[in-house]
Amino acid sequence: MNFQDMPKVELHTHLEGCAPPEFIRMLAKEKGLDLSGIFNADGTYAYRDFDHFLEVYEAACTTLQGPQDFYRLTKAVLEESASHGVVYQETFISPDFCGGGDLGAWREYLAAMEEAAAEADRDLGITLRGIVTVIRHFGPEAGKPAAHCGVETFGGFVRGFGMAGGEMVGRPADYSYLFDQAREAGMPLHCHAGEWGGPSMVQETLDHLKVDRIGHGIGAIDDPALVQRLADSGVTLEVCPGSNVFLGAVDSWESHPIQKLRDAGVKVTVSTDDPPFFGTTMTREYEMLNKTFGWTKPDFDEVNRTALAAAFCDDATRQTIAKRLD
Ligand code: HPA
Ligand code: ZN
Repeated sequence: MNFQDMPKVELHTHLEGCAPPEFIRMLAKEKGLDLSGIFNADGTYAYRDFDHFLEVYEAACTTLQGPQDFYRLTKAVLEESASHGVVYQETFISPDFCGGGDLGAWREYLAAMEEAAAEADRDLGITLRGIVTVIRHFGPEAGKPAAHCGVETFGGFVRGFGMAGGEMVGRPADYSYLFDQAREAGMPLHCHAGEWGGPSMVQETLDHLKVDRIGHGIGAIDDPALVQRLADSGVTLEVCPGSNVFLGAVDSWESHPIQKLRDAGVKVTVSTDDPPFFGTTMTREYEMLNKTFGWTKPDFDEVNRTALAAAFCDDATRQTIAKRLD
């Protein structure tokens, strides 16, 4: 089976987290920033655990300082994704990591991303849409400018609102006012939950943030009633198995709950999260799902249709992408 060429829909990536280390080194050099501490001798990103990953991630983001940087990043990311058969990708954009939520600056950054995305759509057959995310471990107050930025830019390239970052800080309810603002503006909603937190974190995210999609959500597996609730509600999980194994959120591919969640009727989809940080690609995710759980073309087709149905794009785009999956 040629996994690389299979058309793929990927809902859960972080734009900055898709930056190859050599790209960040190039920007650091241009700006005279010494970021040698965040790289291993072999050039890969260097970090010990998830919390340290977030610190390294934040340091890498300091190199992104203007529209041209976001233009080049978006181009590089889409070339890589397209080479793995991705035909539609959504990506989290984190104003909190890159200069705060200054609306004027962010309008320019988003316009640059949109321009790069339009070129990739035309030249490579890959469509990209953005989801503005607040960063949870900065606290509920700090998310205000980014949430404002999301609401103000919603409708074109920006298709949704969400939350990423360290999960074990505060409770979902602390952030509900930000999600309420976005919902009132008509934005579809995502939140990272149940990557590190157990079922209670997923439960509270459903109760208080009323999201359409959960990033990871794998912690739900420890509560059968919650798994049933997810299946009944139709909330889609953006599962990133390679990321979970790499970071140690699960022990191994064999013990990853993606198959059990799918068997229970939960809508599961497959994504990479931050591919160069976690040593993965969409091709590798498919190879490992085939090797571990025996997934073949019909399984991947189903997962891609699930992902497209849950995508935050408009319906005309959804129909165009559906043709690319045939
Ligand atoms: N999890 C949570 N927050 C993040 C991640 C992740 O994998 N990557 C960037 N922000
Ligand atoms: Zn993520």
